[in-house]
Amino acid sequence: MSRSAHPAGPRHADVLSEGHYLAPADNLNALDAKVWSSTVTRDEQGALTVAGLPVARLAEEFGTPAYFLDEADFRARCRAWADAFGPGADVFYAGKAFLSRAIVRWLTEEGLNLDVCSGGELATALDAGMPPERIAFHGNNKTVEEIERAVAAGVGRIVLDSFQEIVRVAHTAQRLGKRQRVQIRVTVGVEAHTHEFIATAHEDQKFGIALAGGQAAEAVRRALTLDGLELVGIHSHIGSQIFDMAGFEVSARRVVQLLAEVRDEHGVELPEIDLGGGLGIAYTSEDDPREPHEIAKALGDIVTRECEAARLATPRISVEPGRAIVGPTAFTLYEVGTIKPLDGLRTYVSVDGGMSDNIRTALYDAEYSVTLASRTSDAEPMLVRVVGKHCESGDIVVKDAYLPSDLAPGDLIAVPATGAYCRSMASNYNHALRPPVVAVRDGAARVIVRRETEEDLLRLDVG
Ligand code: LLP
Repeated sequence: MSRSAHPAGPRHADVLSEGHYLAPADNLNALDAKVWSSTVTRDEQGALTVAGLPVARLAEEFGTPAYFLDEADFRARCRAWADAFGPGADVFYAGKAFLSRAIVRWLTEEGLNLDVCSGGELATALDAGMPPERIAFHGNNKTVEEIERAVAAGVGRIVLDSFQEIVRVAHTAQRLGKRQRVQIRVTVGVEAHTHEFIATAHEDQKFGIALAGGQAAEAVRRALTLDGLELVGIHSHIGSQIFDMAGFEVSARRVVQLLAEVRDEHGVELPEIDLGGGLGIAYTSEDDPREPHEIAKALGDIVTRECEAARLATPRISVEPGRAIVGPTAFTLYEVGTIKPLDGLRTYVSVDGGMSDNIRTALYDAEYSVTLASRTSDAEPMLVRVVGKHCESGDIVVKDAYLPSDLAPGDLIAVPATGAYCRSMASNYNHALRPPVVAVRDGAARVIVRRETEEDLLRLDVG
């Protein structure tokens, strides 16, 4: 599909909201391997299958809407990241993208570490048996109680995000008779999203401690003097859905500069550097993500080069991919409810979910693709907007896409690449019941997060 400007002026049915032109794919039944997990294919009848299971059977057993998560694909992505970075580096899966007990077990088995950013994520990680030393704890406003739990559990690192927190973590560790390994999160003056990166207005945000004005150097100074802390490194996270490595390059250079300053001032070479997450995935055929081994090589080369220039031993590198691991492993299956052709505009296709199971389109103008999943069709393409069932006109799942014009109520449609930040950001808006996450593997399916029920909602409502 192409989202280029229309070459010969707009044809009304093809004009999208932004005045761009979306060409229908040659074959609406085709599946682009970039946006689907590895075991998704079509069977002889044309039905979408995942791990050998046809979607109609899955819908019958688990209902719709539902997220289907391809376990083999998830594990393969974990291994690809771990292998790419090798034993000399650490990969932390960012749990905010999607976390459940099963995910924690798979991560543990595949040798990944875990980044958590709340007491709830920490509880899930510990409950499912992630060794505490493999957990990193993040957040710009960790509560004292969360800090206590993390230190008491023995997490491998706490990423300090403010001057107050330096003191809070140090005091907590001392009180518990521990020395907590910590990194300091710095803001390097780069904010990167997708194809561009911006080197202005970056300090104007809530995360981290600015390198600018010597703030980060001062944070290091304080952390090094406190007995409860073992300062092991510097952390930087520059944004989301990034394809261009240039932002990481600037970030790595500035973090290494700080390491050199720390060495010069304190005679200490901090042994770790974390470059955060944010690596992009393909939501549509337009996106061209890099493979983990390319990313590992690019980051490794940058850090090695900068450290050589500063005459520093190369620190141990870590990264925190969330979306790049879980994003492509799942799709959302919906049933088509109503279909409204708007003459000269587009056809609105309503599904049985919406912004409560995928807020990303409404929140970030995110782009998704969609396919007819219960069957194939050779009917003419029609321009559609896939919308939810919520009481809000911004309740859009897929803004612009083509589906076959014989689409009918009761058909199943699937939206790929919904593994990251969809279930984890799901809501109960309109008292919607949050969908289940069903793990599929080798012809078997099992619920790993069950569908909410009306009893669940009413149980919280104690008035
Ligand atoms: N490390 C840190 C410190 C982070 O803040 C984040 C994401 C990550 C790692 C993982 O980033 P990833 O590799 O998953 O892009 N809700 C937004 C994304 C927010 C990301 C926040 N931090 C979305 O749906 O796009």
